[in-house]
Amino acid sequence: MLGAETTARANVNVALVKYWGKRDSALNLPATGSISLTLDGLGVEATCAFGAESDRCIIDGDAAAGPDADRVLRFVDMVRTEARVDARARVETRSSVPKGVGLASSAAAFASLAAAVSRAAGMRLEAPALSELARRGSGSAARSIFGGFVEWHRGERADGRDSIAEPLLAPGDWDVRMVVAVTSTARKAVSSGEGMRRAATSPLYPAWVETAERDLAEARRAIAARDLDAVGLVAEHSALKMHAIGLAARPPLLYWRGATVDCIHRVWALREEGVRGWVTIDAGPQVKVLCDPGDAGRIAAALRELPGVERVLTCGPGGGVEVGA
Ligand code: DP6
Repeated sequence: MLGAETTARANVNVALVKYWGKRDSALNLPATGSISLTLDGLGVEATCAFGAESDRCIIDGDAAAGPDADRVLRFVDMVRTEARVDARARVETRSSVPKGVGLASSAAAFASLAAAVSRAAGMRLEAPALSELARRGSGSAARSIFGGFVEWHRGERADGRDSIAEPLLAPGDWDVRMVVAVTSTARKAVSSGEGMRRAATSPLYPAWVETAERDLAEARRAIAARDLDAVGLVAEHSALKMHAIGLAARPPLLYWRGATVDCIHRVWALREEGVRGWVTIDAGPQVKVLCDPGDAGRIAAALRELPGVERVLTCGPGGGVEVGA
């Protein structure tokens, strides 16, 4: 018989100083720290109950098999071991990230799964322990446990106990916007995990690791001062540096499409006109623009006009993980 169900929700986050490279891939320990913004309205709800006849995973209404389901069930297994629970589980995730927008929701998925599965297994974890657990599902999920501006620490320990996220500013503490221009809805060709492995072959990778602490300090200081220009400049620098590593990797890696480049130039041209927006790009062709709330409408309209831009969304700062029926 199925035990009580537990449901949890978490939002996606976008890194401003990127996580790109691991010091331990089994534990998802990052080579450097990172800083992100959790977004409102783009999230995943996870439900878990133990006591099923066999492990079952349902993703967005469909019984899931294949790599996505395997990854979820491996995560469930790990929690089961920690909680010393034997029973099989029924796990379901539902994403509110519009289908086909090409935005990865694995950070929100593993943050909500960490909360739902651990609670269903009888564990009562505080936020730092949830962050550590979520990290083991997907590195960036460590940050989605918290809302607003968040820093995930690299940590020094081999067991990863100190590689957890912590909030820098709550979502209500500073109102900014993230405009997301979707330039392709195709599933990404190279996962972030594979991208990070390739990055390690790049001669630019040591420079990435060497300069990380400087970027983090700059972002931390700018966020504390609510200095949007300074946060924007370091975020744009971190993203372009991350993608530069890929160009010099073997084999090379380029996530951008023509429309990605056009969006970058459009945002830079708007900046010349006094519009306060800065570009960031993850392991895909979408362009995200961190901006002042007063400029979001103008940026969204300008990007929507570009050929190859399929859709534009605008989000504000979102909250951290929530557990409840
Ligand atoms: C480019 O967290 O998806 O979005 O730890 O292998 O699951 P795994 O990787 P993942 O990588 C995210 C990479 C990024 C930058 C970032 O979010 O910091």
